[in-house]
Parts: sequence; C-alpha cells; structure tokens
Amino acid sequence: MSDRKAPEKKLLKALAGEKTDSPPIWLMRQAGRYLPEYRKVRAEAGSFLDLCYSPKLAEEVTLQPIRRYGFDAAILFSDILVVPDALGQKVAFKEGEGPVLDPVTDSAGIAALGSPSGVKAALAPVYETVSRLKQSLPADVTLIGFAGAPWTVATYMVGGRGSPDQAAAKLLAYREPDTFQKLIDILVEATVEHLSAQVEAGAEALQIFDTWAGSLPELSFERFALKPARAIRAKLKARFPHVPVIAFPRGAGGMAEHYFRETGVEGLSLDTGVSPLVARDRLQPIGCLQGNLDPLLLVAGGAEMRAQAAHILEALGHGPFIFNLGHGIVPQTPPEHVGELVRLVKDFGA
Ligand code: CP3
Repeated sequence: MSDRKAPEKKLLKALAGEKTDSPPIWLMRQAGRYLPEYRKVRAEAGSFLDLCYSPKLAEEVTLQPIRRYGFDAAILFSDILVVPDALGQKVAFKEGEGPVLDPVTDSAGIAALGSPSGVKAALAPVYETVSRLKQSLPADVTLIGFAGAPWTVATYMVGGRGSPDQAAAKLLAYREPDTFQKLIDILVEATVEHLSAQVEAGAEALQIFDTWAGSLPELSFERFALKPARAIRAKLKARFPHVPVIAFPRGAGGMAEHYFRETGVEGLSLDTGVSPLVARDRLQPIGCLQGNLDPLLLVAGGAEMRAQAAHILEALGHGPFIFNLGHGIVPQTPPEHVGELVRLVKDFGA
C-alpha cells in the first residue's frame, strides 16, 4: 500500500500489523453502568434505546471513559440490537431483564422483516452520534464503530431474549437450515449497510461482536459464523479498503485460527479462555490480537489483576497487540481498578 501514509494513531498502527512501544488499550463496554457519570445520563435519558438514539447523550457517554482514563480508542455507544430494531422487529430493554424482542421463528416472520437497504435511514441518529464524535474526540483517539455478527444477532431475534444456550436459534438452524440461512443473509446485508454508514460518518475501525460463536459445533460455526464474517469483511473491503476490522468470535476455541485466516479480518479479539502463550505462537503471526483479561479480575483488582495483566503483556505485548478484556466490563467493577490497569498497560516496555 505504497500510496497510503502509515497510520499515526496507536490503535490503527497495531491493526496495520505494526509493533507499538506499549500496546494501545480500550475495553469492551468501557461506557456503562460501572461509571457514576453514565448512570446519571442513563437516568435522564429514559430508556436504554432512547439513550442509543439521542446523538448528544450517546456522544457524551462515549466520551466519558475517554476523559476519565485516556483510552486509545472510543467505541460508539449503541447496541447490537439496533439492527433488528431497524429491520422492524420490536425491541425493548427491560430493567433487570435485558433485551426482549417479538421473536422471529419461521419463514413468514423472516419475510415480514424490512429490507436491509432501509437500515441507513432508520439508524440516522446513530450515524449522527458518530459524526459528532469525529469532531469531539482527541486527535490521537481512534473511533471504533461496531455491529453484532449475524449469528449472535439472530440468537436474540429468534429466541426473543438472551438465553444461556441459544437453543431457539440453534434448533431453527438445525431443523430448517435454509430458512435460517435466509435470516443470516438478511443480517449480512444489514450489517454491511450499518457498518458502511458508520465509516461514512467517521468510524476509523470496526468491530464485529460474535458473542455466541462458541456455542456452534464446527459445521454450523463454519456456515453461520465464519462465512457471514468473511462475506461482511469482503464487502466492506470493496467499499473501504483501508478500514480495519476486528472480529470477536467469543468461545471459538480450536476454530479461532481457521476463522482468523479465512475471514481476512485484521484483528482477532480473544476471549478469556484463550491462552496468551498459545495465541502468541499460533495466532499473532496471522495478524493483530486483542484481549483478554478476565473482566472479573478487573472487579477483584489488586495483585492478582496485576499479575494476570502482566502475563498477557509479556506474552502478547510485543505486538501487534491491543490490550482489552476477554468480554465486557461488568457493572460492579470499581472505576479505580480500571485506572490502575490503564497505567499498568501504558507503562509496559517503558
Ligand atoms: O462497549 C461499549 O462501551 C459500547 C457499547 C455497547 C453496548 N452493547 C452498550 C450496552 C456494545 C459494543 C454492546 C454490544 C452488545 N450488546 C453485545 C455484544 C458484546 C457482549 O457484551 O457480548 C450484546 C450481546 C448486546 C446485547 C445486550 N445489550 C444485552 C444482552 C444487554 C443486557 C445486559 C446488560 O448488561 O444489561 C444489553 C444492554 C446494554 N448494552 C447496556 C450497555 C451499556 C446496559 C444497559 C443499561 O445501561 O441499562
């Protein structure tokens, strides 16, 4: 890519395969209920979706962790379930219950969904948040846009809520694979539209969250997790060749290496169960890694958090690497533990 200037922001450097002095750091769910300033805005906003669709407030909560900790990246404040909402499926977030949707369980339900081409108009407030952030973020902070992967979004669409085993979506995928494939195809298109609009509004890198990838057996993983991610990566590459993509196929285990190679994503986000030492040898030669401190170590803090963060840094920190958690921050996290972690990562190699 000789016609292109090397990236200057630390996170983009890591995703371009460059080694950085100390790794860039951001944390999944870095904006959220563990921060008192988030809880205040959240209370004023009304519902969680109202917050997602209020550009000023969504901008504010995206910026809160940047101001407090100086992370290297800001992730747009939104949710993966805005896509089904934009496709016309009723989505609500109930206090203490999580997301609740009118389930889509058969081909009639799938046929009743809106067209993926309508996503851009329906989610205009989300892209306005991205544009505002592009103006307000410090110059060295990378703006990350995101979407859920088709499989993970489908688990909520078919099940109507979160579930420990994703049984409803799995049973539809096993009993009627071609029907389920139609839903996945719609979600591939909708996800490409949604991520493209975020790039057009100013997102500089993208993350695809496949939180439930690990519940699929190999053949279904290939069809419903890997292939859609590869299609999304290819379609985005054709439109925006220089925008890097990170994928988070949580729980992919022994299928992670194949997934990383085949999807062509620049970054692979590791869950807590992946060995940093094995990842260094098997996965880091393929591309940039991200991860993977246990979010509960961030709750516990102290010597145990420091030792396990140091282990990750020693294994992977020589890059290309982005420090993150193995899954999102949980609400009971003491904010001062996050500050300590950020200092520890920034001091690495100094
Ligand atoms: O990371 C960030 O700071 C950006 C914002 C973000 C949210 N959700 C905000 C949110 C991102 C990237 C997500 C992704 C998301 N949403 C995923 C994939 C990643 C993961 O965590 O596994 C999934 C599966 C969802 C769906 C979702 N949204 C669930 C299951 C829930 C309920 C659980 C909970 O924590 O309440 C949400 C709600 C949600 N999304 C909250 C936040 C800050 C909490 C809602 C609130 O403030 O009341």
